Amino acid sequence: MGAGPGFLTVEMAAEVGPDGLVVAVEPSEAMRALAQAREVPAGAAPIEHRSGEATALPLADASVNVLTVTQVYEYVAEVPAALAEARRVLSPDGRIFVLDTDWDSLVWHSADPARMRRILTAWDAHLVDPALPRRLPRFLRDAGFGAPEVRVLPLLTVGWDERSFAAGLVGLVEAFVPGRDGVDADEVQAWAADLRSLGADGFFSLNRYLFLADRR
Ligand SMILES: C[S@@+](CC[C@H](N)C(=O)[O-])C[C@H]1O[C@@H](n2cnc3c(N)ncnc32)[C@H](O)[C@@H]1O
Repeated sequence: MGAGPGFLTVEMAAEVGPDGLVVAVEPSEAMRALAQAREVPAGAAPIEHRSGEATALPLADASVNVLTVTQVYEYVAEVPAALAEARRVLSPDGRIFVLDTDWDSLVWHSADPARMRRILTAWDAHLVDPALPRRLPRFLRDAGFGAPEVRVLPLLTVGWDERSFAAGLVGLVEAFVPGRDGVDADEVQAWAADLRSLGADGFFSLNRYLFLADRR
């Protein structure tokens, strides 16, 4: 659900194999086009790409064994309604796998910590709930799921590396933040230039949280 460009979709199809089926649900036509263009290895499960929203999945009741929702619920306004919908489509022995980021876990080195705080506060507006993981155990329980297995997935880069998640994120923040919360383009560019200039002193740490729960 919220399959985006389809990386996990293809990996799941390879794991499931030709006797199964992977359904990739995604509301964005541009994302669906990217996912549909992705190469699928021989022997993989067939993949069906469908348009759909978290709170109105294009799937029949109890028709799904496993539902994966990675980096999606943090963009959804009505997470309890979305989890009720997830439970509807899962089979009685089905499981849900959820992954989201807690943006308060971000620890990045910077020459100007006050500027870093201003820019990250403006960046928080890129999603609905920047601190969703800490609320998910309660939301899952209230939606009727069993106690989740929870793990943390740290994303850590020491030093500046153009190929890292952190470097990609700096570019996204640079594009999103100017004009928000009183932060202008010059300030964001100075912030990004500082991070890129840290070289071996760069330190970029951010946590994602994984939840695996039974439908019950
Ligand atoms: C950060 S991307 C994650 C994509 C993919 N799951 C991954 O981990 O690579 C977020 C995805 O959630 C989708 N999305 C946003 N709001 C949604 C909603 N209300 N229902 C379903 N998907 C949504 C977006 O279109 C986008 O593809």
